[in-house]
Amino acid sequence: MKFFIDTANIDEIREAASLGILDGVTTNPSLVSKEGKNFRKLLDEILEIVDGPVSAEVIATDYDGILKEARDLADIHDNIVVKVPLIKEGLKAVRTLGEENINTNVTLCFSPSQALMAAKAGATYISPFVGRVDDISTSGMDLVSQIIQIYRNYNYDTQVLVASIRHPLHLVEAALMGADVCTMPFAVINKLFNHPLTDVGLKNFLSDWQKLNEKVENPKKA
Ligand code: E4P
Repeated sequence: MKFFIDTANIDEIREAASLGILDGVTTNPSLVSKEGKNFRKLLDEILEIVDGPVSAEVIATDYDGILKEARDLADIHDNIVVKVPLIKEGLKAVRTLGEENINTNVTLCFSPSQALMAAKAGATYISPFVGRVDDISTSGMDLVSQIIQIYRNYNYDTQVLVASIRHPLHLVEAALMGADVCTMPFAVINKLFNHPLTDVGLKNFLSDWQKLNEKVENPKKA
């Protein structure tokens, strides 16, 4: 499974990349807006740090506007994946961009039928937003499972990129289902390392080691 970080914050991207487990980055207009930086400069910085797919979203919602923004974004670097909203005009643009060998990430997916349409349009990635589905008392992970099943039934190449991840269990369930990618906020990546038994076990190992040192240094006292 590929791990992407879902942020536009350079410090977080740098730290996640230093862990050696980062395969790519996803951004969205809200995440970019939070950073208050020029979008182009921000993308350049991200592309310097991570040698993998970097999703950058278009703002236009009409076919021609989406194509123009998408081509400009794709011109920046081969690793740019153009993020396109799951609307009619968006999927029309995804088809055209695919014919131009521009990679796309279809975003704001909340139903299996939407995901099927994105695959038919030739999307490189589909992004089901699991956390936001959970927020309305429906199962985000059931959505992911249905998309994976549909894509397997018809051998679609579109990769399932699980987005809007809120906690490590989302990642584990996505991995068990065989999702291709998870994009996670920095806080969730950090939580993946944690286990209380690891902390207790390590504490005990170190204190036992310290006792050995004391015995070796002061055999009579021991
Ligand atoms: C996906 O690519 C989006 O950027 C993201 O995962 C949305 O997550 P949120 O629901 O936590 O805003």
